[in-house]
Amino acid sequence: MVPEKETLLDRIEEIAKNRGFFWPSQEIYGGVSGFYDYGPLGTLLKKHIQDAIFDHYVMQEGCLSVEAPVLTSISPWIASGHVESFADRTTECEKCGEPYRADHIIKEKTGKSAEGNTMAEMDAMIKENNIRCPKCKGALGRVYDYNMMFKTFIGPGKNKIEGALRPETAQTTYMPFRRLYEIARRKIPFGVIQIGKSFRNEISPRKSIIRQREFTQAEIQFFIAPSTIEWKGFDEIAPMEADALVKGSEKAVRMKFSELVVKKRVKQPIAYFLAQSIMLFRKMGMDMKKLRLRQHRDDERSFYSSDTWDIEFLSDKYGVVELVGIADRTDYDLKRHQQQSKQSMEVSGEAGKFIPNVIEVAYGIDRPMICIMESVMKEEKERLFFSFPSSIAPYQVAVFPLVRKDDLPVKAKEIFDMLRKRYYCAYDETGSIGRMYYRQDEAGTPLCITVDYDTMKDGTVTIRDRDTQKQVRVSEGSLMDAIQGIFDGTPMEKFGKIRSP
Ligand code: GAP
Repeated sequence: MVPEKETLLDRIEEIAKNRGFFWPSQEIYGGVSGFYDYGPLGTLLKKHIQDAIFDHYVMQEGCLSVEAPVLTSISPWIASGHVESFADRTTECEKCGEPYRADHIIKEKTGKSAEGNTMAEMDAMIKENNIRCPKCKGALGRVYDYNMMFKTFIGPGKNKIEGALRPETAQTTYMPFRRLYEIARRKIPFGVIQIGKSFRNEISPRKSIIRQREFTQAEIQFFIAPSTIEWKGFDEIAPMEADALVKGSEKAVRMKFSELVVKKRVKQPIAYFLAQSIMLFRKMGMDMKKLRLRQHRDDERSFYSSDTWDIEFLSDKYGVVELVGIADRTDYDLKRHQQQSKQSMEVSGEAGKFIPNVIEVAYGIDRPMICIMESVMKEEKERLFFSFPSSIAPYQVAVFPLVRKDDLPVKAKEIFDMLRKRYYCAYDETGSIGRMYYRQDEAGTPLCITVDYDTMKDGTVTIRDRDTQKQVRVSEGSLMDAIQGIFDGTPMEKFGKIRSP
């Protein structure tokens, strides 16, 4: 029997499509895997998640912000090592041509990890274990390195230059480092956030919006002195606990951040940003029981990093999903850009001249979005709803007239016009009241305002709460304060007598 949770989750992509969160792109031409369109609800939800991250880092952490083109010349990627090393070991079926990531198919068929193995070792494992194409049972070809960057040419004719779509935003923040350093008044440490699209020609895009070929990242680069050990604000997060899977261990253990640092498992800056990320995800409605920290093993860590930690979401539908990676990139990137561009990346500090080290906090936006949807998706009797917090819900409020006659729509639109000045607000008059509530529940709108015949007599309207379906009547004049009060956590009872469904 299929577990109940799975049945509900099975519908998540269907609901996402039908309600306008996201759907496969270019559908009328058969689609290309790894590309998605975000619809009216999806663009709003994604924007609010992005804004929450942007506002946190700019307002609370004092970061600068930057936005660079997604298409660059190939030079920064030669410097960064992506041209040489941003590759996955791949094998293709000799019969049907289906490509597979070599380590994934070996793990799937033998249970053994081949990550970090040479191509010859992987060839041998495929042969010894008689691993064949899962689709057509054809033989698998020799393992080769497949570079995941999309390359192109910029401009026409013989002066055209080789270009690439960025596979991460990070390098496009490192390139203007000198300008940013000047703007930061030559003070280290400072952080810079960049939000934008990145592109990876993934071998097998899958799991909905989790592994795409074009996706959105919010990456923050903290430029720090190499000697940095302590981090401002660490003491506040030190008592916080999280499930942590430390490299070399078999399973995650609940630990305080202070313990992780004292035992020298992680440095203070990485611990601090892991904790900040957990708090951000909590505010967005992510299921805290499904989050864990995981330190990369030495054989899987990116070529530029000396230590990397991920926050993972243990999805009931998609398995382990990496939401954010926090890495100590040392002085690797700036040093390489200095070598390639011949521009100095050195700065002066108390300890003399040095090239700054980088602590990078690299969020995807698409993955947290679907994991939040999974976390807040609920089913109750005939009703399905997303209980998004009001801070990230696509629409925060919806307004409708009880019926489409006797000037009720005129009054409802007046209230809608007042509320839309402050909130993302939806208006509907195309169905029975039950049907309109149902639609807003599926969209995850926290509060619905209904205009009825009493409104025309005494100027009161109904506020209906999505999660409890409780209703309260308030005067039109106090509606804005009541909505804000409820969003800020004041119980609905404070605003009038409650009517339960
Ligand atoms: N600059 C470092 C970097 O790019 P990463 O771990 O490769 O690190 C950071 O990517 C985040 O970007 C991931 O945690 C994930 O949320 C998101 N991401 C990476 N590849 C993705 C893909 N193919 N589709 C959707 N999101 C992706």
